[in-house]
Amino acid sequence: MSESNPAGATGRANILLTGGAGYLGSHTYVALWQAGFQPVILDDFSNSDPATLKRLQQITGTPTRCERGSVADTGLVAELIKLQRIQAVMHFAGFKAVGESVAQPLKYYRNNLGGMLSLLQAMGDSACQTLVFSSSATVYGDPSQLPITEDCPRSHTSPYGHTKLICEDMIAAVQQASGAWRTAVLRYFNPVGAHPSGLIGEAPLGTPNNLLPLVAQVAAGLRPALKVYGQDFATPDGTGVRDYIHVQDLAQGHVAALAALLRGQASFTVNLGTGRGHSVLEVVRAFELASGRPVPWQFAPRRSGDVASCYADPGLAEHLLGWRAERTLAQMCADTWRWQAGLLT
Ligand SMILES: NC(=O)c1ccc[n+]([C@@H]2O[C@H](COP(=O)([O-])OP(=O)(O)OC[C@H]3O[C@@H](n4cnc5c(N)ncnc54)[C@H](O)[C@@H]3O)[C@@H](O)[C@H]2O)c1
Repeated sequence: MSESNPAGATGRANILLTGGAGYLGSHTYVALWQAGFQPVILDDFSNSDPATLKRLQQITGTPTRCERGSVADTGLVAELIKLQRIQAVMHFAGFKAVGESVAQPLKYYRNNLGGMLSLLQAMGDSACQTLVFSSSATVYGDPSQLPITEDCPRSHTSPYGHTKLICEDMIAAVQQASGAWRTAVLRYFNPVGAHPSGLIGEAPLGTPNNLLPLVAQVAAGLRPALKVYGQDFATPDGTGVRDYIHVQDLAQGHVAALAALLRGQASFTVNLGTGRGHSVLEVVRAFELASGRPVPWQFAPRRSGDVASCYADPGLAEHLLGWRAERTLAQMCADTWRWQAGLLT
């Protein structure tokens, strides 16, 4: 056991993962386990399947530790922190669908802000004040420069983005009030891919919000064609360019951020991206190659609010954490396809 990983009852440091049964939380669960930590999930399964817990057990070879409940239940969170001797928290729990947040803003403000408020209260009351937070590149709004550095101005284009921005501000405020907090705000770019086992991945309920699950469903024959929104952006092929990052790289980024906080690194905010953008049509071609299936597509008008290009400058994360995304677009597509194909059987 390293010094940065003080032992809990199992000989591993206990780390609470709110929303740990979801897409990003489940992959981070595995990465934490492999790095010598004991992850403990708190999830209300509002957007995940309890079957994920068995799959995590299959991957790690040990029973998955999970409490069913809401992060908005301050008493429950405080009790969990105490009983499980939690040393740090990773806060994934929240709603994430941009379009839905426009249609149902109060649902988003209630869950994302109420959850954060409750968690910060429970952590402060329990003197467990090491936190890794799932923020998003959405806090850059319509980016003013590329690549995007952490000091770019923040803004928002949806209630979802607004909740991320306010959560960042809530974290900054508690820190200002007490020097006991150690926090890592991680601004994700576009997480895609799945665990190479094919056992866990992104399983969106209803229509997916993101490109890769849609492409995968078209390749699987579950949808007739992909709509490519916009063909005249100022990009090499006219379609939107985004910074896709493999979920396994993202999970490693969480482990690196946690390790940095536990060894005394001051609080920080970093981008987690690759620094490289890929257009929609590049993704389609890469997916066809990885899956061996055609992905029919057709152009559709631009959606309001969509920007031409968005990609990170990941230099600060590399400098502070010694972390860098390694996996290629081909791997992202191959792992997504393995997961998607498994869903069909
Ligand atoms: N996936 C992305 O593209 C992306 C990009 C940027 C930021 N994020 C953020 O990362 C976090 C995780 O995203 P994800 O893709 O894993 O989403 P997800 O929906 O797969 O996982 C979120 C999990 O939180 C749970 N949850 C929701 N509200 C809860 C509550 N009140 N109490 C307990 N559990 C609750 C859900 O059941 C789900 O298991 C979210 O905060 C999201 O906003 C995601």
